[in-house]
Amino acid sequence: MTNLLSIADLGREGIEELMGLTDNMVEVSNRAMPKVPALKGRTVVSLFFEDSTRTRVSFETAAKRLSADTMTFSVSTSSVKKGESVRDTIETIEAMGIDAFVVRHRSAGVPWQIARWSDAAIINAGDGWHEHPTQALLDCYTIRTHLGGLEGRRIAIVGDIKHSRVARSDCLAFTALGAEVTLVAPPTLLPPSLEGWPVKVSHDLDAVLPWVDVVYLLRMQRERMNEALLPSLREYTARYGLTARRAAKLGAEALVMHPGPMNRGVEIAAEVADLPRSVITEQVRNGVAVRMAVLYRLIGPGADLPRLAPDERSRDGGRDRDDRPETETETEAPTGVDRGGASRD
Ligand code: CP
Repeated sequence: MTNLLSIADLGREGIEELMGLTDNMVEVSNRAMPKVPALKGRTVVSLFFEDSTRTRVSFETAAKRLSADTMTFSVSTSSVKKGESVRDTIETIEAMGIDAFVVRHRSAGVPWQIARWSDAAIINAGDGWHEHPTQALLDCYTIRTHLGGLEGRRIAIVGDIKHSRVARSDCLAFTALGAEVTLVAPPTLLPPSLEGWPVKVSHDLDAVLPWVDVVYLLRMQRERMNEALLPSLREYTARYGLTARRAAKLGAEALVMHPGPMNRGVEIAAEVADLPRSVITEQVRNGVAVRMAVLYRLIGPGADLPRLAPDERSRDGGRDRDDRPETETETEAPTGVDRGGASRD
């Protein structure tokens, strides 16, 4: 694995491998000094062309806990404002010697495009309506922590599916791990075609709630709605919002999840977001450990980074990936990680 672009690239085996590695990263995060030198000498760049709180801070925290150097690229203060292209931006930053780009962009497919231009590891941190693989990984990890696994679990994903990259990645990840997924939304908030989506569809949240192990609410993405898809938000809340009355229909062990940011009072009532069964803050906490696992897997010891041919190395400004710091002796691996082989394909 040299990039993480889509959850589909991982399959069940890849997701489970990262879940296991995340266990080790949780152990690191729970230490009094939550830091190991696993990525010392590596540099991770956050390249966010679109706003973020959780994903951006989480990746930066993850990189720092593994002792990587971090750089943050801010579009609003960059030469993109003067018309510099994405490609020139990538090549400029890469010339400084970096190992991974964490990319968020409002257009679907941009991380794939960047992967064609760059030798660094590319991690998709959300591309348009398309995918958000690390969100899916942290969601799987959170469900696994509470329910022991996803096999045979019933999960309802509720709300604005049409504009949601989280819904796409979660459907792929949840079903890869054996869960049964039901999408619950008004017809106008579903994609025009669900061909190839291994899911059921319902327009009746009240009927679905008593049967699910997890109800996963999506944010109403008003900034992506350039057409009138709903009569009103009040009507949406009346039919699809998780109110306290509706939450009472859930089974005793059922979880309430949300990727954030939440619109309290729209898709989720404020008091429901604060119930013990709501694991939204835990999702955020697990996001750091999951992203540590992803970074470790991609650019840590044993990662199968592309090796450049000698003539390519000279074009690369003399930067030789085989000259990466020898981590075998200087790296204190997270507990239980086999530094020699565990992170290979
Ligand atoms: N869940 C999520 O991607 O949140 P941010 O937009 O704050 O990163």
